[in-house]
Amino acid sequence: MSTPIGIHDLAVATGRYSLDLAELAEHGNVDVDKYYIGLGQEKQSIVAADEDIVTMAAAAARPVLDRNGTDGIRTIMLATETGIDQSKSAAVYVHGLLGMPADVRAVELKQACYSGTSALQFAAGIVARNPEERVLVITSDVAWYDLDSSGEATQGAAAVAMLISANPKVAVLDTVAGLHTSDVQDFWRPNYRSTPVVDGKLSIDTYLSALEHAWADYTARGGHGIGEFHGFCYHQPFSRMAYKAHARLLEINGIEASRERLDADLAQTTRYGRIIGNSYSAALYIALFGVLDQQEDLTGETIGMFSYGSGCVSEFFSLTVVPGYRDTLDLERDREAVFGREPIDYATYRGLREATLPTDGSRAELPASGTGPYRLAAIDGHSRIYEAIEKQP
Ligand code: COA
Repeated sequence: MSTPIGIHDLAVATGRYSLDLAELAEHGNVDVDKYYIGLGQEKQSIVAADEDIVTMAAAAARPVLDRNGTDGIRTIMLATETGIDQSKSAAVYVHGLLGMPADVRAVELKQACYSGTSALQFAAGIVARNPEERVLVITSDVAWYDLDSSGEATQGAAAVAMLISANPKVAVLDTVAGLHTSDVQDFWRPNYRSTPVVDGKLSIDTYLSALEHAWADYTARGGHGIGEFHGFCYHQPFSRMAYKAHARLLEINGIEASRERLDADLAQTTRYGRIIGNSYSAALYIALFGVLDQQEDLTGETIGMFSYGSGCVSEFFSLTVVPGYRDTLDLERDREAVFGREPIDYATYRGLREATLPTDGSRAELPASGTGPYRLAAIDGHSRIYEAIEKQP
C-alpha cells in the first residue's frame, strides 16, 4: 500500500473586525432576512487597515510552524484570488515574515476560489515523489465586492494554513478526485479592477452544474458512494449555496433532500462560514475547520469536499480523518480567530473600504490597528513593507 499523504496540521486566521449584515441591510434598506435567511449569512470578516492576504497568511501559518518546525519544508504555495502584486508572489513575503530558510520555493496560485485545492493536490504530488518533504499550503483572501452591489453581502476574509506531509496527523487526502473545467464568464477580475465583475445568478448555476460534472467524474473513477461520507464541505460563498449544492448532490443520487438531512450533513460545516463570509480560496477549508472543531470524534470518517472556483474549475475529493487529530490541532486558538473579532458599524466599515493607498510611489504609514502577529506597516517606493509585531519564538 502506498504511503498516505494529507493534512498534517492546520490553523486559521481572519480579519480583526466583524460586520453584522444587519448594518448593511439598514444602510441599503433591505430586509435583513434576505441576508440572514435568504443567503444564510450573518456576519462578515473585515480586515483592519494594516491587514491583508499576506498578514493573514503569515498569521495562520505561524502556529503551524511553531508546532512542526520548518525541517523538510521546501515549498510554500499561497493560493489567492486577491493578490497584492501582479508579479511577485505573496508567498515570498510570507516566507520572509515567517523567517523560513532560503532553500525553499515560494509561489502563488490563482484560479478564483479553487486554487487552494490545486495547491493541496500539487503538494501531495511533491510529497509522493519524496516523502521526506513537507509542503506549506496557505489559502488567503480578502473578498470585497463593489460598494452597494448585491455581492457586498457575501464579502469576507480569512486564511487557512495547512502542512501537507506523508503519514499526516489530521487527515489523509484520498487519491480519487473528480474534476471539471469549463470556460465561463460568471466571475472575474480584470487587472485594472480592485473588485470583481460578477454575474451572480450565472455563478450559482455554473457552480451547481460543475458539481454535477465533477461528481460524475469522481464516481466514474471509483470514488466513494454517497452513503460512505460522514459529512460534506462545500466551497461556501454564502451558506445557502452549500445547501443548494448538497440538495442537488442528494437528488442526483436519488436521496430526498429534506431539511433534516441537509442540516444533519451541513450545519457544522457551514457555521463558521456563516459568520466569516466568503473567504474565496479559504472558504472550503474554513468549512473543514468547522467540522473538525465541532464534531466530537471524526476518527476514521471520510469527509466529501467540493471545491469550486468561478471561471470555472471544480473538484470533488475526499479526506479521511486520522486518529488523534484533535491532539495535533489547537482548535481553541482557531476558534478565537473566528469568534474573537471586534464588531464594527457601517460607517467604520465604509471608512475602511474607502481608504486608498498611494499609487505614485510616495510613502504612507498604515495605522497600527490589526491584532495579529504581522502587519503592513507602510507603502514606500511602490513596495509593501511588512513587519512582525510579536517577538518571534
Ligand atoms: N427573507 C428571506 N429570504 C429572502 C428575502 C427575505 N426578505 N429576500 C430575498 N430572499 C431570498 C431570495 O428568495 C433568494 O433565495 P433563493 O436563492 O433560494 O431564491 C436569496 O434570498 C437571495 O436573493 P436574491 O434576490 O437572489 O439576491 P441577489 O440578487 O441580491 O443576489 C447573489 C444574490 C448571491 C447572486 C449575490 O449576492 C452575488 O452576486 N454574490 C456574489 C457571487 C456569488 O457569491 N456567487 C455564488 C457562486 S460562486
